Amino acid sequence: MNKKRVLSGIRASGRLHLGNYLGAVKGMLALQENPEYETFYMVADLHTLTTPYDPKTLKNDVREVVLDYLAVGLDPEKSTLFIQSQVPEHVELAYLFSTTTSLAKLLHLPTYKETLKLHPQHSTVALLYYPILMAADILAYKAQSVPTGIDQEPHIEITREIARKMNSQHGTDFPEPQRFVTEGEYVPALTGEGKMSKSIEGSYINLTDDLETIKRRLAGAPTDSGKGENVPEKGGVANLLIFVELFQGRKIRQEYEKAYTGSGIRYSELKEGLAKAIFEELKPVQERRKRFEQDPELVEKILSKGAEKARNVARETLDETKKAMGLV
Ligand code: TRP
Repeated sequence: MNKKRVLSGIRASGRLHLGNYLGAVKGMLALQENPEYETFYMVADLHTLTTPYDPKTLKNDVREVVLDYLAVGLDPEKSTLFIQSQVPEHVELAYLFSTTTSLAKLLHLPTYKETLKLHPQHSTVALLYYPILMAADILAYKAQSVPTGIDQEPHIEITREIARKMNSQHGTDFPEPQRFVTEGEYVPALTGEGKMSKSIEGSYINLTDDLETIKRRLAGAPTDSGKGENVPEKGGVANLLIFVELFQGRKIRQEYEKAYTGSGIRYSELKEGLAKAIFEELKPVQERRKRFEQDPELVEKILSKGAEKARNVARETLDETKKAMGLV
């Protein structure tokens, strides 16, 4: 049987938080365990260069994400784990794809405009090129399924367009990939506004946080009097209830909702219970992380094997594409 392929990646901008975990990593794990799929998971270090970063810490930042991957249960026996820049075929393929990508389309992409707004001093060609490289990441493996957060949807759409254009102009056989959607794909910020993000202090919980840290971060989440006619649909309380549902289940959420319109919620108790539930889920992850932290040689071995395997697949796609485009 020919297995369907999966590719995903996360940028190396620090340790993973619950937003990455629920939005992307849980999908990555689910597909890894599904025997119908062959899974390729990378750290997108080249994409990390599109916004300000520190070259002195980059290598370490990449290793942190690799450790988080291994800690959450991505298994080198089941998934190919690698670092994007160690498979230079992605970049070459991206260049070939750029010949079929419209400039206007890229300039109007919401993700491009938003990032530019955040970093107005860093308007670079690399940032504009971001979606093309991402399309190459995915299509180098002819991946059909991409477990990633909902914010990446515009990039997956561009990937499908590139696949269609390449196939119609050059007769290649790229699939049109779909985003693999998970239950917790939109993870709100603890601050009550927007999504959980590394760049917003107080908005996130890291996978490596201990119980005390989780409690401290939850303590900062805004609440209200705990009572009212209607359960809030937006803001701090609404977000806390989303976390309750994700980590303690729908039933407990419903109990809190009932309390809100009745006797009132005591947030100190809610936050205590929620912190414990989150930590319960993170504990085994942190224990596994420690084991890999103690064996950097093993981690390097996993990565070099992963890169070799990824390169073999990506090179085949690149060769086919070059042939189709008349280069060889
Ligand atoms: N852009 C993705 C993010 O910020 C990271 C990424 C790079 C990616 N290449 C990818 C995700 C390919 C999925 C597939 O989360």
